[in-house]
Amino acid sequence: MSPIVAVTIAEVSKSVAQAKRRGQSVGYVPTMGALHRGHARLVEQARGECGFVVVSIFVNPTQFGPNEDYSRYPRTFESDREICQESGADLIFVPERETIYPAGPLSTYVEVPGLSDILEGSIRPGHFRGVATVVLKLFGVVIPDTAYFGQKDYQQQLILRRMVTDLNVPVEIVTVPTVRESDGLAMSSRNRYLNPEERVAARVLSQALAEAETAVSAGERSADRVRQILARRIESEPLASLEYAEVADAATLEPLRDLGTGRRAVALLAARVGPARLIDNAILPN
Ligand code: PAF
Repeated sequence: MSPIVAVTIAEVSKSVAQAKRRGQSVGYVPTMGALHRGHARLVEQARGECGFVVVSIFVNPTQFGPNEDYSRYPRTFESDREICQESGADLIFVPERETIYPAGPLSTYVEVPGLSDILEGSIRPGHFRGVATVVLKLFGVVIPDTAYFGQKDYQQQLILRRMVTDLNVPVEIVTVPTVRESDGLAMSSRNRYLNPEERVAARVLSQALAEAETAVSAGERSADRVRQILARRIESEPLASLEYAEVADAATLEPLRDLGTGRRAVALLAARVGPARLIDNAILPN
């Protein structure tokens, strides 16, 4: 069945209220559109676990910096609608900018200090304030039981988990493993900025992570040496420029010195390849 397309908050509230009266749980996948198989996976998981599935498509201006890609971020509603339909969404919420920000800038924002200021946050100041604020606003509209986010945006899902815990927001956050192209590249809406040569070069992120995982499986215990493995691999690709290569505690993102101490570790990468800024991550073997 084709999903309902809702533009106003009143339309969303009405459909969600009807679903709740039918006794259905509400699963929610917030997106910025330009949907790909990674998003489809989130919707499919919501479909499998919830009675009523909402997807929102909103390119949120407050999470883009002044020199970032807000205006050229791909807007592909027709293909997004098909992906939502194929993956089992019941309702697509496509608000206008004025619906989410009716009076321009807000007076209230959600900040998750610490976690928001490192890694992505140090390169994109204000980004996570924009993400956390819009997600909380969207939660207020959809009032879901469960919300689904991709592991590819590892720091984002940690921040949103912290937000719902700290603010007693009654939404369960589910993190879904990254979906990859057959050559390992993590699915991302920004992959479409890559030309064919850059697309080949972009494999270097997942290759670097695979090398790091192999080293740790073979007994490497120094986080610094793993950072070096990651950085060297990215630097070996002439079309890529490294922004960060970190090995951190998977729950707190605190940089680690030693692996194998019982703390789960995550390797996180950001690099520019041509016009695209790409991120990827992998949980390292124990
Ligand atoms: O991950 C995204 O696409 C965005 O950051 C989100 C969660 C939809 C908030 O705008």
